[in-house]
Amino acid sequence: MSDLLVKLYDLPDAGPKLERLRGAGIAIRRAAAYERNPVCAWVREHFGEGWAGECEAGFSRQPVSVFVAVRDGRLLGFACYDCTFKGAFGPTGVLEGERGLGIGAGLLLKCLEAMAAEGYAYAVVGGAGELAFYQRACGAVEIPGSTPGIYPPKLKCAGGLSRGRPVRARESAPTPETS
Ligand SMILES: CC(C)(COP(=O)(O)OP(=O)(O)OC[C@H]1O[C@@H](n2cnc3c(N)ncnc32)[C@H](O)[C@@H]1OP(=O)(O)O)[C@@H](O)C(=O)NCCC(=O)NCCS
Repeated sequence: MSDLLVKLYDLPDAGPKLERLRGAGIAIRRAAAYERNPVCAWVREHFGEGWAGECEAGFSRQPVSVFVAVRDGRLLGFACYDCTFKGAFGPTGVLEGERGLGIGAGLLLKCLEAMAAEGYAYAVVGGAGELAFYQRACGAVEIPGSTPGIYPPKLKCAGGLSRGRPVRARESAPTPETS
């Protein structure tokens, strides 16, 4: 998996996507500090310990660098930036049954807009497992020579501190240590 680069000064207009989501009752917004525990517990349950840890880091800064997708008070997805590395987008995830509705792109674009507003010119997506998604949603390009990328080897411990794709998928997928 390579790292990707995104031009924050040339982002696609998120407006129509967000409008469509709003029409379907889905709000994409920055998470609030008081939502830290439920959001991180949800990320841990659906995407594993490593991503929950990064999410915690996003709740430890001001402004909080975690965005959530919510319908009827229920979490459908999340996305973070500036967690493990400054200027980096991720992790992000959408509930399996809610994928393909534009939620992932909405979360991504809201985070990237926030990064641009904070003064970044480019964002890095570290160890991007979903290259086509990032290419389509924000015109990301691969950084030459960036494999294995900015994420160092994982700790080998219970809970599998995965990064780059959800734990459940990764448990059966080859890893740099096993492949
Ligand atoms: C990647 C992920 C966040 C995408 O969320 P999503 O809500 O399904 O994405 P969207 O519906 O907003 O898709 C946006 C665009 O990307 C495309 N896309 C999404 N996933 C894709 C994939 N795996 N391969 C190719 N294209 C993809 C969609 O077709 C859509 O294209 P369009 O705008 O032309 O219609 C979601 O699949 C997920 O949670 N995956 C597991 C966690 C993960 O891998 N996170 C990323 C780690 S780097």
